[in-house]
Amino acid sequence: MTVELTATTHPLPPTPIPADGPVDTSPICGTPSLQTDLDPVWAAVVACTRVRGNDIHLPISLAFAERLVAAHPEANAMLVRVAILLHDTGWARVDESKIISEGFSGDWRKAEIRFEHERKGCEIAREVLPPLGYDARFVDEVVAIIDGHDTRAEAHSLEDALVRDADRLWRFDHAGIALASGWFGLDPATYCDRLRAEIIPELLTEAGTAMGLAHLDRSVALLKTAVLR
Ligand SMILES: [Fe+2]
Ligand SMILES: [Fe+2]
Repeated sequence: MTVELTATTHPLPPTPIPADGPVDTSPICGTPSLQTDLDPVWAAVVACTRVRGNDIHLPISLAFAERLVAAHPEANAMLVRVAILLHDTGWARVDESKIISEGFSGDWRKAEIRFEHERKGCEIAREVLPPLGYDARFVDEVVAIIDGHDTRAEAHSLEDALVRDADRLWRFDHAGIALASGWFGLDPATYCDRLRAEIIPELLTEAGTAMGLAHLDRSVALLKTAVLR
């Protein structure tokens, strides 16, 4: 069986990238990823989701990716969805003891373990996708997005940009704040401050920025970060 796909990426427009389709800023739990076409891919990487909160991070990020694709109907939706699903699976093949000690302190985006989880993620994509019927060109496109997703300064395509925004947006949901604040050793209020100051400006799409701000505003109210600081 070969999965029918067009594997073409689209050039990166100037940022911030305006939306061409609907922008949904409501709570992400209202629109989970309900399509079952990627279930075989999920099933192939279950073990890789048991590391570094991937079983929380990856499904929430996929839900955000599907919203971003709706806002950008010109994008290759399958490429974005598969790339976000697999992008962090490589954490399962690195030295787990270094994930927190090296992956979340100092210049964490340039830590060797970051490069390593990207390389291992590419390896996993090349292992799991071909037997499921994804053709070689599509796999190459997925790998091109996974490679450098944390350590590369810039996005290479519209699809790459959507994956990058989805990879950040999960953090603005309260589940993301609960997990990621602990990784950085920060209390939720300080972490929310950092999200607003440092991560919102990194978002590449106008849709992503609107979703991030709406989720952050709800999360800071819910978690009472104005007084719990
Ligand atoms: Fe990553
Ligand atoms: Fe990630």
